Amino acid sequence: MSALDAVRARQSWSKVGDTAPSREDLLPLVAAAGRVADHSSLRPWRLLELRGADRERLGTAIAEAQGDDTPSSKPLRAPLLIAVVASYRPSEKVPRWEQEAVASGVAHVLSLLLDEAGWGVIWRTGHYTRSRPVATMHGLGEDEELLGWLYVGAKPEGKRPGRRKSVDARRLLTRPPSPLPGGSLAATPDAGPTEAGKKRDGKISVAKREKKKSKKKDKRDKKKDKKERGSKKT
Ligand SMILES: Cc1cc2nc3c(=O)[nH]c(=O)nc-3n(C[C@H](O)[C@H](O)[C@H](O)COP(=O)(O)O)c2cc1C
Repeated sequence: MSALDAVRARQSWSKVGDTAPSREDLLPLVAAAGRVADHSSLRPWRLLELRGADRERLGTAIAEAQGDDTPSSKPLRAPLLIAVVASYRPSEKVPRWEQEAVASGVAHVLSLLLDEAGWGVIWRTGHYTRSRPVATMHGLGEDEELLGWLYVGAKPEGKRPGRRKSVDARRLLTRPPSPLPGGSLAATPDAGPTEAGKKRDGKISVAKREKKKSKKKDKRDKKKDKKERGSKKT
């Protein structure tokens, strides 16, 4: 099957049966999915297989995150859940959002490969996805975040998942706005960040971080100078 055919045929399966791919089945697919574009080859991702009682422990963590008395049965909807983890690497060049894009790409490609291999898959999340109990249950490090789970199981026989609307490619593939006479751009009233950039959660731009770092260094240097001058006097 060509990549085009595989992408066109892929659909999410919200209900799946009890059989799941083995670890050995998964390994070549994970290795292939890991071939996505990856700025500086940081590999800022990892995956966890949740099978059997792991899913029950996730149900307990979800209940804890929600303040519920009984474990959530949501993770039991598929025999295998693949947790997608963004593992941010320290980098001056590659910001977190780029690293998250890589992890997300791996999840999309893995979904496609599993679908093509005959498995039913759906990517699921919930408001508890980035809660502390759920992070602890997955053993996440301080610089890791979950992107959700691929629920994987058998495609139920004789059933088809719901069809999504077709994609209006002509509307979604366009050109940038033309420059105004004189060469200035209509949509850039100043040289600062865009509104979307300002809203980005907690992100300090690289330029700002560099400025902060150099200010700190200046302070340190001044302190050192002062100390040295003091010691020369005595
Ligand atoms: C990051 C992410 C999180 C998602 N979370 C959920 C979810 O929690 N529940 C759900 O029903 N669909 C969720 N979806 C959407 C489904 O995975 C699926 O794409 C959607 O049902 C459309 O079906 P299709 O993939 O066959 O077009 C999520 C998708 C993504 C990319």
